[in-house]
Amino acid sequence: MKTLTASRLPLPLLRRGKVREVYDVDGDHLLLVASDRVSAFDVVMREPIPRKGAVLTQISAFWFERLAGIVPSHFVTASTPEVMARLPALAGMEDELRGRAMLVRRTTPVPFECVVRGYLSGSAWKEYREHGTLAGDPLRPGLVESDRLDPPLFSPATKAESGHDENVTEATMAAALGRELTTRLRDASFAVYAAGRDYAATRGIIIADTKFEFGTDAQGTLRLIDEVLTPDSSRFWPADAYHPGGPQPSFDKQPLRDYLAGLRRDGAWNGEAPPPTLPHDVVAATSARYLDAFRRLTGRPLEEDR
Ligand SMILES: Nc1ncnc2c1ncn2[C@@H]1O[C@H](COP(=O)(O)OP(=O)(O)O)[C@@H](O)[C@H]1O
Ligand SMILES: [Mg+2]
Repeated sequence: MKTLTASRLPLPLLRRGKVREVYDVDGDHLLLVASDRVSAFDVVMREPIPRKGAVLTQISAFWFERLAGIVPSHFVTASTPEVMARLPALAGMEDELRGRAMLVRRTTPVPFECVVRGYLSGSAWKEYREHGTLAGDPLRPGLVESDRLDPPLFSPATKAESGHDENVTEATMAAALGRELTTRLRDASFAVYAAGRDYAATRGIIIADTKFEFGTDAQGTLRLIDEVLTPDSSRFWPADAYHPGGPQPSFDKQPLRDYLAGLRRDGAWNGEAPPPTLPHDVVAATSARYLDAFRRLTGRPLEEDR
């Protein structure tokens, strides 16, 4: 399989994200193409991580199929032969697209990210430590970093075009979207998270928190869109290394994070773009972790290996 820093397809490009390109297919469908780019501390690295794009796309595909009974989604197919058959314009590009392209229904996205937190980490831990709250709402005292939150919390965020998304309260979301839609989004988010968390637990993976996006299709149906329960949209922790009271190792990006944290400690990198050059062993270790996450979670070989 080819490693790909950025796709260039003969289709109208709607968006180039940190990791994925979004192409318009026919007005009603989109092609999401996950490159092998990786970001850490919000900076996109120069070196691609081999197989990462295929891992992300195939993890999302796995979940969309598995969760179909819980919530409608935008998923059509992530099988490369099927994508190629439906999109003659891409003839000859099979090698660079293999495993990484997903055909989806186009929707009008809901302008909030639906975050579910089952463990106290990241920006939520920071706010709780400083103020005892999450998005302004008080949380029970005495929690430590990475503690399990039972029941999980719904903590929506605004979609910031650049920079950091901002945590908001459910009340803020309801003021913008209405109570009815907000409740549907929250209930769907909880249901998908619970199903994902319970399944991942049987595979030795803790899904500590995750971000969902929803959109409305032309018929008015609310659908789960974007990527779902991937290491890029969620925190995956190895269950056998779980020790609350501090940060947890990340299943996928830990070799990269450790390397970058070391550079920052030594004053060799200031944490902003341009990124430092990554040594080959860091790239290889990160690639191996993504592949391991895929195999552990799905029990399947990656499409390109079949
Ligand atoms: N079915 C869909 N309909 C409309 N927009 C979608 C759909 N699925 C995903 N998107 C949008 O595609 C975009 C992906 O871009 P982005 O998140 O910036 O990429 P990345 O995750 O690589 O940073 C998001 O804005 C998301 O809302
Ligand atoms: Mg995104």
